Amino acid sequence: MTVNHFGSIKHLIARFVCSFLPSKGNAETNKFLTLLNPGELRLFEAQNKFDKRHSFRNVKKLHALLDNPAPDIIIACGLHDVGKVQSGFGVAGRVFASCVATIVGLHRVDVWTRNNPNSVTHRIATYVQHPEIGASLLSEAQSNLIAVTWARDHHKRLEESALEPSLFVILSKADSA
Ligand SMILES: [Fe+2]
Ligand SMILES: [Fe+2]
Repeated sequence: MTVNHFGSIKHLIARFVCSFLPSKGNAETNKFLTLLNPGELRLFEAQNKFDKRHSFRNVKKLHALLDNPAPDIIIACGLHDVGKVQSGFGVAGRVFASCVATIVGLHRVDVWTRNNPNSVTHRIATYVQHPEIGASLLSEAQSNLIAVTWARDHHKRLEESALEPSLFVILSKADSA
């Protein structure tokens, strides 16, 4: 069984387990934080602790994949999931939201944004739309074009993304960390 848009169930379970693993800062993650403008730093800090760990794991994996990555790419890598926090879901809620989206269909879930903001259905829709929400938050924070594009496209297939294909592949590999 697959979860279109968000990857396979196996991948989701791996994410769920990884979210509880520590990911301490190192020189690479410290450098990542120094690259952020004030608005980007606010978005990073607004994340849950497991999303911050996910950001750090992404940045570390990027450095393992690329020698001396450009600042714009590091920022894109570390901030791609900043839209997740708006749903208010923890890890289990996100797995639930992804499963519901698969069963019901993304197009049907999208219209749930019109529901009561306190309803579970609205929160599921908000979670499903975290790529678009993140892209718009990063755009408001005057983040670079790669960061805005990667936030918007990180659950798309390579051929659907506006990102340069080799960059898409590297950032996808970092996101599987
Ligand atoms: Fe995501
Ligand atoms: Fe991610």
